[in-house]
Amino acid sequence: MRAVAILTAAGSGTRLGHALPKALVPLAGIPLVVRAAHALASSGLVRRVVVTAPPDALAEVVAAVGPAAGLEVVPGGATRQASVAAALARLDDEPGDTVVLVHDAARPLVPVRVVRRVAGAVALGRSAVVPVLAVADTIKRVAADGEVAETLDRRELRAVQTPQGFTLEVLRAAHAAAADRADDESLAATDDAGLVEAAGGRVWTVEGHEDAMKITTPRDLAVATALVQSVVPSPAPSAIGARP
Ligand code: CTP
Ligand code: MG
Repeated sequence: MRAVAILTAAGSGTRLGHALPKALVPLAGIPLVVRAAHALASSGLVRRVVVTAPPDALAEVVAAVGPAAGLEVVPGGATRQASVAAALARLDDEPGDTVVLVHDAARPLVPVRVVRRVAGAVALGRSAVVPVLAVADTIKRVAADGEVAETLDRRELRAVQTPQGFTLEVLRAAHAAAADRADDESLAATDDAGLVEAAGGRVWTVEGHEDAMKITTPRDLAVATALVQSVVPSPAPSAIGARP
């Protein structure tokens, strides 16, 4: 099986509060987007990666990740959903049964085995697949005034990571059905599987990994830095995303 990937990197990183757009922020010396591209390429399954970049930092993202065969950078949109839609438009020439992974540059340390697990499940016939983790905290639904409305059953809850995997046909249909809310941050989807669910499609889970943690805040970056410096090996050079 050979897959294609969309790597979302067009966010500004407001909560990280760094001078650079989040995808260009170095994690132990290597920008998040470069680490994430290597993680996808290291799976040995991804033959093409479309990276979404902030429109005003397109050249910087190109300089960071490329040039490399099979890698292209496109300007992202106003929301993550719009950015994925922009990348999807570049995959118009791919057949509908192509396996497509959608991965966030904000998860640069995803282990290769998670990438393979997701892509493998799609190839085996699950048309929408998300990597998940059990939730350690008790989760409550809380009203706007701070009063607890409900305690959810933790055994049924999962935290959802990326890469999420789809057949291109299913991902295209889900984005087409929700195109009218792509540009509004309060209405747009925060993940692609959510769009598949909203369109009435089925979504399956596979086991994720704690190293696929999302970098949102400066604390997350500090935790990821500690991970890289202790147990997570640096990515090896590979065809996609390698510097010349
Ligand atoms: N993303 C994107 N296009 C956008 C917004 C987000 O491609 N218009 C990407 C980000 O680059 C990131 C992923 O979607 O890889 C998840 O978004 P998030 O973690 O929220 O990143 P930011 O939007 O950059 O951060 P913040 O919300 O703190 O500004
Ligand atoms: Mg965001």
